[in-house]
Amino acid sequence: MIIVPGPASTDLGLKIGHLLKAKVIPVEYKRFPDGESYLRFTEELENENVVIVQTTGPPQDSNLIQLLLMIDAARDINAKSITTVVPYVAYARQDNRFRPGEAISSKTMFKLFESLRVDHFITVNFHSSDILNLLRIPHENLSAIPSLADYMLNKLNLIGAFSLAPDEGAKKIVEESSRILGGEYGWLKKRRDRVTGKISVDLVSVNVKGKDTIIFDDMISSGSTMISATNTLKALGARSIYVACVHPLLIGNSRERILMEGALKIVGTDCIQSPVSIVSIAPLIAEALRRRFRV
Ligand code: R5P
Repeated sequence: MIIVPGPASTDLGLKIGHLLKAKVIPVEYKRFPDGESYLRFTEELENENVVIVQTTGPPQDSNLIQLLLMIDAARDINAKSITTVVPYVAYARQDNRFRPGEAISSKTMFKLFESLRVDHFITVNFHSSDILNLLRIPHENLSAIPSLADYMLNKLNLIGAFSLAPDEGAKKIVEESSRILGGEYGWLKKRRDRVTGKISVDLVSVNVKGKDTIIFDDMISSGSTMISATNTLKALGARSIYVACVHPLLIGNSRERILMEGALKIVGTDCIQSPVSIVSIAPLIAEALRRRFRV
């Protein structure tokens, strides 16, 4: 197999290649004066099992188009197979038509990958695993939650900490983390206004008084979800509050706002490179590629 890290995941691609002792080839990349992307593989890929690693966090549109250009070019020059590793899939959150006329962007993403004939698709904590099942190419949805929980346990000594999901959608995540941390888990009831995006949390009863707590979620975007969960935990008397997420998009000053609200530390992964990307998903991806290529 040959690993090709795209411009958005250069470090991650190199780490994966290093763990697998696989050949890594860089792409030549530049932007034209009008903003369009130029990409070129720097070595022959004909008849090779090509693994393209490219996340599609902000700036989503250009990272996504670079990914599509790489897949199509690899197909065009007769790669034997194309595996795409897309740790964060942009546009995955809109998976339904909530208001008449809305575009269902997650479905559009799937159509793109299918039409470019990707052979195998690997992602991490895709926003909704049920929706991912609509993707009609073989795919794997890996979970980085055990790696995050391991870090909380072994590096921050949060043995037995309470795992909190900021909404019911993240319930599976905290079931997973609590198995590693050995503490209880619970979730809040969050509502988001479909037009303004404003969120509110219903009154809940989670028993966190005097406990170390960790809020786990798949992603932090504006930070509003984590901020309101942090406030709820403070009001309920938690002893300490930590925040963990797989995809740290961290738009604007969300990181500072979450910390100012009282969270002691934010821990994220390198699914998206950010100042809180402390935990690497490279071992998780390398293991999946070992299984796929039996190496
Ligand atoms: C929602 O369903 C997701 O799991 C996250 O809770 C949400 O997308 C985070 O967004 P924000 O940081 O803007 O509140």
